[in-house]
Amino acid sequence: MTEPTTDRGPVAADVKADSSKEAGQRVESMQKMKVDVGGGGERRNPGDETKALFEVEDLSCYYGDFRAVRDVSMTVPMNRITAFIGPSGCGKSTLLRWFNRMNDLVPSAHITGSIKYHGVDLNDDRVDAVEVRRRIGMVFQKPNPFPKSIRENITFGARIAGYKGNMDELVEKSLRRAAIWDEVKDKLNQPGTALSGGQQQRLCIARAIAVEPDVILMDEPCSALDPVATLKIEELMFELRDEYTILIVTHNMQQAARASDETVFMTMGEDRAGYLVEKGPTTEIFTNPKHQLTEDYVSGRFG
Ligand SMILES: Nc1ncnc2c1ncn2[C@@H]1O[C@H](COP(=O)(O)OP(=O)(O)O)[C@@H](O)[C@H]1O
Ligand SMILES: [Mg+2]
Repeated sequence: MTEPTTDRGPVAADVKADSSKEAGQRVESMQKMKVDVGGGGERRNPGDETKALFEVEDLSCYYGDFRAVRDVSMTVPMNRITAFIGPSGCGKSTLLRWFNRMNDLVPSAHITGSIKYHGVDLNDDRVDAVEVRRRIGMVFQKPNPFPKSIRENITFGARIAGYKGNMDELVEKSLRRAAIWDEVKDKLNQPGTALSGGQQQRLCIARAIAVEPDVILMDEPCSALDPVATLKIEELMFELRDEYTILIVTHNMQQAARASDETVFMTMGEDRAGYLVEKGPTTEIFTNPKHQLTEDYVSGRFG
């Protein structure tokens, strides 16, 4: 791999991958990274809207010798909702997890190729994985609030990330942005796990938002929710799109059609390696796809 450089200069060599370092040092390295890659806290200009935030280049994802995803090249636009659809096992979750180094936690997982974020190779050894996960948050299939109070679900990550501001304000702001404040404001000290499934998922979104990410990855966030709770999450996604870039994996085709701007259709070959068939504006993928495989899938003939 060549030295990752951007128009903002090379990635600081002192942005280390060692996530066991002291929090203080981590905060310092985050700040360095903030300088180096731009973006992050500050908001974008209107003209930035269609800029590519991620560039995926020849990405293949492996578990040991097994290639789960092959040769993906694409860009992901900023401030848009990009949906990933395709049959079960085609590598959607695998691919999504490489966008915030969640696969670092799987020893057999490795890649060839790269994912660049603001022009920086996310999987470069010198990039701090903890900082990557702060900027690129994740919401999982099954709501997983910490076994702590609603309030602490918000403050915990922020404290670790070195947040120095007013915690009450942060709690309110995050819960409001996740459209759950009115439902929980009188019971902030009650356990997050006591909420309904849909509320728990919005709490998890609030928790992800609290550390001021740039991107939110969602892996089938509504699959454990009823239709009403699902619609609430979809409405919330639309509101969040102005401030965040959202990547969502869904096996619910209606959800992709309703709730995304861009759709990526993946399928898998005989070797079980998933690959990208087609990516485009959601309306095109659903009404006028270029590939027969896409057409068969979105019309329900396959998968
Ligand atoms: N931790 C893992 N170790 C080994 N193989 C895995 C692991 N996670 C997923 N796989 C395999 O990778 C392929 C893609 O899985 P996944 O990304 O979960 O697909 P999808 O989300 O599209 O259903 C599957 O063949 C699956 O069995
Ligand atoms: Mg999956």
